[in-house]
Amino acid sequence: MTDTTKMSGRPVISATGLFTPEDSISNEELVASFNEYVRRHNETNAAAIESGQMDALTESSVEFIEKASGIKARHVMAKEPVLDPDVMAPRWPQRSNDELSLLAEIGVKAARQALENAGRKVEDVDAVLCAASNMERPYPAMAIEIQQELGIDGFGFDMNVACSSATFGIQTAADYIRSGNAKSVLVVSPEITSGHLNWRDRDSHFIFGDVATAVLVEDAALAPAQHWDIVGTKLKTVFSNNIRNNFGFLNRAYPEDAEGPDKLFVQEGRKVFKEVVPMVAKMIVDEAERLDIDPQGLRRLWLHQANAGMNRLIAQRVLGHEANEDESPTVLDTYGNTSSAGSIIAFHLHNGDLEAGDTGLICSFGAGYSAGTVFVRKAG
Ligand code: COA
Repeated sequence: MTDTTKMSGRPVISATGLFTPEDSISNEELVASFNEYVRRHNETNAAAIESGQMDALTESSVEFIEKASGIKARHVMAKEPVLDPDVMAPRWPQRSNDELSLLAEIGVKAARQALENAGRKVEDVDAVLCAASNMERPYPAMAIEIQQELGIDGFGFDMNVACSSATFGIQTAADYIRSGNAKSVLVVSPEITSGHLNWRDRDSHFIFGDVATAVLVEDAALAPAQHWDIVGTKLKTVFSNNIRNNFGFLNRAYPEDAEGPDKLFVQEGRKVFKEVVPMVAKMIVDEAERLDIDPQGLRRLWLHQANAGMNRLIAQRVLGHEANEDESPTVLDTYGNTSSAGSIIAFHLHNGDLEAGDTGLICSFGAGYSAGTVFVRKAG
């Protein structure tokens, strides 16, 4: 048992974990499947298209996808059905209530890695937050299932702030540490975004990928020597309809409507781009100022991975110059947009080379709108 009288109330990131699905879909594979779907659709509906009752669908292209988003591939939990032009959605066998849920399964894998990287025993962990943009069910909470599987004695709950879920989870965990209500909290973000993506929509079929991340937020007194101090956290939300998913338990009563495209991810991509970039860049600079940090002196930005162009612009506004890969690493090219997990993957894969005293920023943004900043400094 840990001696809680020695706790400092200072939150740190002790370690992170990452689970990456084995299967990956390249843009070439994705576009070949999409274009086959388009060809079949236009052939089947040739008469209606000819008479003007229906619009012909247009093909997608690898060049467009790479230029518009920076994405070259994405990992998925179920490759075959996603690429099958007759299905174009992930499918897996239904699991019984006695089996671990899919979302919990990948969350547990990432969580175990974070615990291992921290050298942490589960007995020391007090809480699990499952912070992600889509939950497998309303209840019992995914977090409680993950807690049970890991054998943690404490509490857990789910939280959803779309692409910002992980940073909102980190601040929530940090607040538990600050208040003394917990000393070790796992923030788990299993993102099976392939389930909310409309793989038949040319404007967005290439955007998302599946993954799970975990962040172990702890009291500094308990943390391993190799950790990141949490210097400050800030959250922001501003309502917008420009990224939306209307799926919910109240609309399941209308079967004819339940599969409609608005029950999946929809967005006004251009508006999102224009409105979110200035909002996030300003938030980062304002928060850096409040924390007495020179934004241009930030050693590294681990930004949400939604779109390469957005990241380029945000990083430029914060750092005052065009950022290179070392200053603002990309994982978008191989992972796609993994919703809340994106900035955590970037942090997980690209923090080992930084020196004690280096300050960096984990930052998320997305639907809501929502945005979260977590300024961190490498301990030494
Ligand atoms: N293949 C080929 N061409 C395509 C295409 C596809 N899959 N999808 C769209 N296009 C074409 C359109 O027909 C349009 O052609 P036109 O100019 O001749 O009319 C052109 O590309 C521009 O379409 P648009 O949808 O405006 O593309 P865009 O350049 O804005 O890029 C996004 C689309 C979604 C990649 C981009 O807006 C974006 O990333 N926005 C940020 C939002 C975001 O990432 N949100 C994720 C949640 S946080």
